Formats: sequence, C-alpha cells, structure tokens
Amino acid sequence: MLNIKNLTVSVQEKTVLKDFDLQIVDGEIHVIMGPNGVGKSTLCKVLMKDPLYEIVTGEVWWNEKNLAKLSPTEIAREKVYLLNQSPMAIEGVSTAEMLRMALSENSQDRIDIFAFNKKLEEICKSLDLPNNFVHREINVGMSGGERKKNELLQMWVLEPKLILLDEIDSGLDVDALKIVAKSFLEYCEKFHPTVIVITHHQHLLDYIKPDKVHVLQNGKIVQSGDLTLAKRIENEGFSKPFDISGIKENE
Ligand SMILES: Nc1ncnc2c1ncn2[C@@H]1O[C@H](COP(=O)(O)OP(=O)(O)OP(=O)(O)O)[C@@H](O)[C@H]1O
Ligand SMILES: [Mg+2]
Repeated sequence: MLNIKNLTVSVQEKTVLKDFDLQIVDGEIHVIMGPNGVGKSTLCKVLMKDPLYEIVTGEVWWNEKNLAKLSPTEIAREKVYLLNQSPMAIEGVSTAEMLRMALSENSQDRIDIFAFNKKLEEICKSLDLPNNFVHREINVGMSGGERKKNELLQMWVLEPKLILLDEIDSGLDVDALKIVAKSFLEYCEKFHPTVIVITHHQHLLDYIKPDKVHVLQNGKIVQSGDLTLAKRIENEGFSKPFDISGIKENE
C-alpha cells in the first residue's frame, strides 16, 4: 500500500503541497486532476526525492519503508518509477546502455545481452518505434511524443511496482495516444502495479479504467470520486466551486 501522510512540500520557498494525504491499495489506479500549477508534478518529483523539492513535514510509506527518508537510488530499488511530464535529454549515453546498467545494478546475475536486445526490439515494435531508437542518446533530438514513448519503453524494462504517470498523454497525437494507453493497460494487466495517473484529459481514462479520481487544489485533495468526477471536470472545469461539505477524502 502507498500511504502518504500529512505531506507538506515547498519549492523555492513556496509551499505547494500542504498536509497532503493519499492512500492507495496495492494494484489500484488512482487519478489526480487539478488546474495548472497546483502541485501535481511536484507530488511526483518529491516522491522521487528531486532535491529541488523540500519535504517540510510528512511521511510516504511504501513497502513498509518511508520514502521520505530514502535516497533516489534507494527509491528506485523499491521499484518506484516516474514517467516524467517533460522527459529530459541526456547526452553521451543511449537508452539501451542506461537500461542495461540499471538492470545489472539490481541483479546478481549477468545480463543475457541477446535476450535483453530481443526484449528491447519487441518493446520498440509494440510502441511503433524503430529498432535503432534505443541506441540513440537518451531523448536527444527526440520529438515530444517519442520522449513519452521512451519513458514507457523504460518502464517495460525496469518493471516497476509503483508508477507515477505524469501527463503521459500531453504531446501525443491520436494514434500515439492509443498505442501508449494500450501498452500501459497491458502492463497493468500483466504486473498489477500501484499507479498514480496525472492527466487533464478524459481520453486516456477511456483506456485506463481508474479505481478512483481525486481533485488536487490548495495543496491537498479536495474531492474524491469515480470516473464520473473526471467526466464532470471535463465538462465543467475546475472553476465551479466544489461542494466541500460532503467531501470524503480518499474514499
Ligand atoms: N523547480 C521549480 N522552481 C520554481 N517553482 C517551481 C518549481 N517546480 C514547481 N514550481 C512551482 O510550484 C507550483 C506547482 O508546480 P507543478 O509543476 O507541480 O504544477 P502542476 O500541477 O504539475 O501543473 P501542470 O498541470 O501545469 O503540469 C507552480 O507554481 C510552479 O511554478
Ligand atoms: Mg505538471
């Protein structure tokens, strides 16, 4: 279970999350929606321990460990993985080299290069990417959509158990969205990860059937519901004040 308790986070001396609480049962998919700038990406980055984001108070329990006390390397070893909203380019190292190093870090056995390359080829095919894609420097010169697919490709190799999906759908054309959403759904059906999905759009949720939908505003979750809440937001936006009298957080 992922259990985030009383999390207050600041960035550049600005408090972004304030007493944020969220519980997700293993294997569930929860969506977080909210206007631009409310702290959705901040939540993802702080869970991965990005040094720009300071945990002022709070605990993040996963696998009986408080992620707030772990280093990014230790967090990655706990099988936590963030698919970034804006994946960065890294010169001088290819995606394949980086993944091979990451796998050998976590395994006592030698990596079978033949099987590894075959797996990469299969993933590339399923994501409609050319085979040489993985041998290019990480995200260097890649389009927005290709970068998103690269995040997904890495997920398939690393096989995380807790996944933070930060706007995987932004920058994808209609066909790419279909490929990415189907691939992610297939991953969920195979590995049953615990997932936080951040999105502004309903289309992704047509494929990935979430268990719960939450609205983040003023630093915390102000409403929780099912898919109908996401549909309501798509139609009415966030400007209409939510009736907070009947709020059941993380219901
Ligand atoms: N590295 C940073 N330096 C300065 N301010 C930051 C930084 N990261 C986040 N912020 C600020 O924190 C607030 C929350 O940003 P965040 O990226 O988490 O929003 P978001 O909910 O993901 O928005 P969007 O829907 O546009 O992606 C914003 O006001 C943003 O400007
Ligand atoms: Mg964001």
